Amino acid sequence: MRKTIVAGNWKMNGSSESIKSLMGALTAGVVAVDGLETLVCPPAPYIGLVADLKGESPIALGAQNVSAQESGAFTGEWSLGMLQDLGCSHVILGHSERRSLFGETDADVADKFVAAVDADVIPVLCIGETLEQREAGQTIDVVSAQVDAVLNQAGSERFMNAVIAYEPVWAIGTGLTATPEQAQEVHAAIRAQLAQADADMAAKLPILYGGSMNAGNAAELLAQNDIDGGLIGGASLKADEFLTICAVAAERRK
Ligand code: PGA
Repeated sequence: MRKTIVAGNWKMNGSSESIKSLMGALTAGVVAVDGLETLVCPPAPYIGLVADLKGESPIALGAQNVSAQESGAFTGEWSLGMLQDLGCSHVILGHSERRSLFGETDADVADKFVAAVDADVIPVLCIGETLEQREAGQTIDVVSAQVDAVLNQAGSERFMNAVIAYEPVWAIGTGLTATPEQAQEVHAAIRAQLAQADADMAAKLPILYGGSMNAGNAAELLAQNDIDGGLIGGASLKADEFLTICAVAAERRK
């Protein structure tokens, strides 16, 4: 059975105070379940704080972005080595906000993906279509091109140590969620595409859904065959919502 992952993308939110309180509730409430990974991705300045606060709890730590460079004159960037130094096991790459607001291209994302896997940090590769693309019937083409851009550069072997997050752009932060059927259709298409490169890898690769997942809709999304967890923004900032989603995911492991 594939791993299930519930990941919180805190985006650019929080303060020392709010993070202490959120982590207090999460460490108290999270339950270790075989095959279920709980991950939080704080803003970079707070990664060290969260590493301290998580202590021995079964919460994994990730970043929301990273440079593909190792070190040097790259003002405002941070490296995979630094993330590892702080205890990060994962890094979100190619989030639609990075692509649309900060100009990250498929090629940038592919470079970061290769660097992350080679540094033993698990990339959570985000892909997804805009509303215009969905309405034009281009969803599968768009998502498949985003996967191909990384697959062609990284090779299928590197996907053995990766996670994909399908996040329809129109569902992110909007309160609109893909229906379980819409999400399942895209997840299955991504898995089929990967299977052409390596069937074993495709069968093992966790594909998360992201886009207004919350305590109310998690169960029906996670019930789908090819949905292996969630990448959660807004609802990950509320301990009770996030823990409810974790509990739903834990239920799915039984
Ligand atoms: P959302 O964000 O849950 O607030 O829609 C998800 C994401 O952007 O990863």
